[in-house]
Amino acid sequence: MKIVVTGGLGFIGSHTVVELQNEGFEVVIIDNLSNASEEVLKGIAAITGKEPVFENVDLREKAVVADFFQRYTDIGGVIHFAASKAVGESVKDPLLYYENNLTTLIYLLQHLQKKERMNFIFSSSCTVYGQAASMPITENAPIQPASSPYGNTKQIGEEIIMDIANVSNINSILLRYFNPIGAHPSAYIGELPNGVPQNLVPFITQTGMGLRKELAVFGSDYPTSDGTCVRDYIHVMDLAKAHVVALQRLIDGNNTEKVETFNIGTGTGSTVLEVIHAFEKASGQKLPYRLTERRDGDVIEAFADTEKANTVLGWQALYSLQDAMDDAWKWEQKIRQVTV
Ligand code: WQD
Repeated sequence: MKIVVTGGLGFIGSHTVVELQNEGFEVVIIDNLSNASEEVLKGIAAITGKEPVFENVDLREKAVVADFFQRYTDIGGVIHFAASKAVGESVKDPLLYYENNLTTLIYLLQHLQKKERMNFIFSSSCTVYGQAASMPITENAPIQPASSPYGNTKQIGEEIIMDIANVSNINSILLRYFNPIGAHPSAYIGELPNGVPQNLVPFITQTGMGLRKELAVFGSDYPTSDGTCVRDYIHVMDLAKAHVVALQRLIDGNNTEKVETFNIGTGTGSTVLEVIHAFEKASGQKLPYRLTERRDGDVIEAFADTEKANTVLGWQALYSLQDAMDDAWKWEQKIRQVTV
């Protein structure tokens, strides 16, 4: 039985492939290399001792997707990461996001719905909650009107999966990630943002490496403990393990609904300044930063209620914010081949 991981050379995808291989699954990676490098295959193999099968497939190409599914018929499950994920970019180029995040999902599902039984894990996001009314955020929190085309593609993606559930044999789990950060402790794989990092932690580590002059902290007048935004930063290793647990749940037939939803976070909120301090502890150096204006679209705080993931899914985060910053810094040094 093979497990297909779309976007498997990406940040979360590659860490999930490692965990799948560690659990004995045979993995086939689909990736179009638009936001990843084939070098990641070597990093995965360095950790697990086995290089996964890699297919350079662009899920936007309907015929190419059809060819893939004609060649691979013994698929036991699909974990779908392949998507664009930069909030700001999605505002500038909505159609790029609707095409890359939704057309690809539709082409994929058109093949999966033909199967007698299919297990499907979808990469969703806490962004669907917008600014939730209360913390911590449960899976029953209302879905708010999307604040970006990126967020909208996650909401619509979830709706598409729910709509086909009762007309197919696809059993799905939607994993709503909070903020994935960190890197594999071996530093063989990690986050490789294209260009100027949009997310906080890679910007911090690149600043620590001297690649960026200083970090702009977007807003310091929020109603939080120190005035900066609160997020639930989850180590990518914990997030990867959640995917394996979710897949195993479907394979074992333990799901109680055709579509199940889980918030995947640590259950703890951290401010931007707390993340900076964790970096300074990891690196032993002060981080140059300045307090600037708020960033449009930012929510004040978001952190997960992990009760359902802990009790129903049987998963919980084990790594701390400090662990994640230690590993993020180790990775940044590795890819710059220096130790500061
Ligand atoms: C975190 C905090 C910023 C950069 C988004 C998506 C989410 C997921 C993760 C894909 C915020 C502050 C950031 C900087 C800063 N997407 N910040 N200076 O916006 O919470 O979530 O990325 O996986 O779906 O919505 O993450 O890392 O951009 O920001 O002060 O240079 O850091 O204001 O408070 P975000 P982020």
